[in-house]
Amino acid sequence: MRFTLADTPPEQAACDLLALPVPDPGTLQGEVADVDRAAGGRLAEVARAEGFSGKPNRTVLLQSLDRPARRVLLVGIGADPTAERLRRYAGVAIRRAREMHAGRVALGATPWAAAGPIPPEEQVRAVAEGAGLGSYTFDRYRKGEDGGEVTEVALLARHGDRALLLRGQQAAEVAIRATSRARDLVNEPANVLTPTALAEIAQEIAGSAGLTCRVFDLDEARTMGMGLFAAVAQGSAQPPKFIVMDYRPPGARRTVALAGKGITFDSGGLSIKTAGGMMTMKGDMAGAAAVVATMGAVRDVGVSVRVLGLVPATENMISGAATRPGDIVRGLGGKTVEITNTDAEGRLVLADALAYAVREGADEVIDLATLTGSCVVALGDWTAGLMGNNQPLMDRILEAAALAGEQVWQLPLYEEFLDAMRGEITDLKNSTTGRAGGAERAAAFLGEFVGATPWAHLDIAGPAFAETRPPAAYWPSGGTGFGVRTLLRYVASLK
Ligand code: BES
Ligand code: MN
Ligand code: ZN
Repeated sequence: MRFTLADTPPEQAACDLLALPVPDPGTLQGEVADVDRAAGGRLAEVARAEGFSGKPNRTVLLQSLDRPARRVLLVGIGADPTAERLRRYAGVAIRRAREMHAGRVALGATPWAAAGPIPPEEQVRAVAEGAGLGSYTFDRYRKGEDGGEVTEVALLARHGDRALLLRGQQAAEVAIRATSRARDLVNEPANVLTPTALAEIAQEIAGSAGLTCRVFDLDEARTMGMGLFAAVAQGSAQPPKFIVMDYRPPGARRTVALAGKGITFDSGGLSIKTAGGMMTMKGDMAGAAAVVATMGAVRDVGVSVRVLGLVPATENMISGAATRPGDIVRGLGGKTVEITNTDAEGRLVLADALAYAVREGADEVIDLATLTGSCVVALGDWTAGLMGNNQPLMDRILEAAALAGEQVWQLPLYEEFLDAMRGEITDLKNSTTGRAGGAERAAAFLGEFVGATPWAHLDIAGPAFAETRPPAAYWPSGGTGFGVRTLLRYVASLK
C-alpha cells in the first residue's frame, strides 16, 4: 500500500473510493458539502434517507458515480475531535474499500483546520495509521482471501504545512511497518517462530536497521548467571536464545533498555495449563515482538540515545528435564527464587533480562510482557497495565500511549505486593496462593531485579492478542502489535 499526500479538493480526487470523515450530528459541511454538490445533492439525499448521524462507525455509501470518484463513503467520527476517531474512521474506510475491491482510495485527512483541536500533521498521521493498520492481514498460510488489496491511498490534506504533513505521513509509515512486523511475529505459530527463528529475524532486522545484534545460547546464558531464564528453558527441545539488539547513535549519552517477554509457546510447564488456556500461547512472545519491531524502527524515528533491545526467548515446555515446582534457582545478580509455579515463567525470564539491562548501564528500563491473566481480569481485553518504580517515567509512557491511541492504565505497586512474593526459604518465590493482585505481584517480583534504576512495566496480556472482537476497525484479530506505537512515540520523544 502506497501513500501519497495531495491537496486535491475531494470532489476532484480520481479514485475507486473516496472516504470522508463526518462529525456528529452528520451535517454535510465544507468539503463534504462540496462533494455533495458535485454529486448533484445525492449524497445528502442518501444520508438523510438513512438517518446518518455522524456517530462513530456509522457510514453512508454513494455508489456508481462516473467520476472522478467512483464511490463516496461518509464515515461518522462522533462529536469529540480526537486523533483516535480519525484512526478508527480510516480503518473503517479501508475495510470497506477491501470489501468492494477498491484499489485506489482517497481519504479526507484534515477535517479540522490548522487552528482546530489537533495539528493537521497529526490528523494526517492518524488517518494514515488507521488506513495502514486497518489493511493488515496475515495471509501467509491462506492465499486468495476475499477482499481486494488497496494499493494506493491518497491522503487529502487541505490544511497545514506540506513539509510537516509529509513528516506526519512518514511517521505513520514507520509505525505501520513496525506494528505489522510485530503482528506477523505474534501470528506465526510456535512451530515456525521458535527462539532460534526469532533470533535470526532479530539479526536480519538489526542488519538492515543500523543496529548490532548478539545472541547468547543456553550455555552462555548460564555462564552469565541467568539461572531463571535457564530454568524456564531447560524443559524444551528448542534451544533458547537471549537476544541483545543495540542501537548506538554517535554521541549518545543515555541508554534506554526495552525488554520483551519472549515465550514462543507457554504450555505452563509442569504446572500445566488447560487446553483452552494454551490456545493463544503462541502469542506469549508479544512483548518480544514489540521490542524487536520497535528496534527495527528506532533509526527511522531519529532517536539520539542508545537503545538496547533485550529478548529472553524460550519455550515453556514439559519434559523429564523440565523445572519442577519447588525447584530453587538463582538469577543474574544472585537472588534465589523458589519456582512454586512453572506457569509463572514470564517473570523469571524477564528478571534476568532486567538484571542484564542494569548491568549494561541502562539509565531506564521499560519491559513489555503478556505476563498475567490477572491484568486482563482487572483491565479487560484492550488495556495494558502499567507499573513501575518511577512516576515521571510512567507519566511519559502514559503520555506516549495516549498519543499513540493505545490504552494504558496504571496499577499500584504497594509494599504488600512485594511482601507476598518473599520466599519462605528463598529471597523470592515466583507465585503465591490466591489470585488477588496477580498483575501487581508479578510486577513487584520484577521490580526486585532493577534496583534503583527507573523502570516501567507494561503488562500487555489483554491487548497483545485479539481473541474477542477488537474495538476498532484498524485492530486486527490475532496479534495486534500492541506497544510498538507507544514505544516509538516514547523513544522519539527522547531526541
Ligand atoms: N502467559 C501467561 C499469562 C497470560 C494469560 C497471557 C492469558 C495472556 C493471556 C503467563 O505466563 C501465566 O501463565 N501467568 C499466570 C501466573 C500465575 C501462575 C501466577 C496467570 O496469569 O495465571
Ligand atoms: Mn505461564
Ligand atoms: Zn506466559
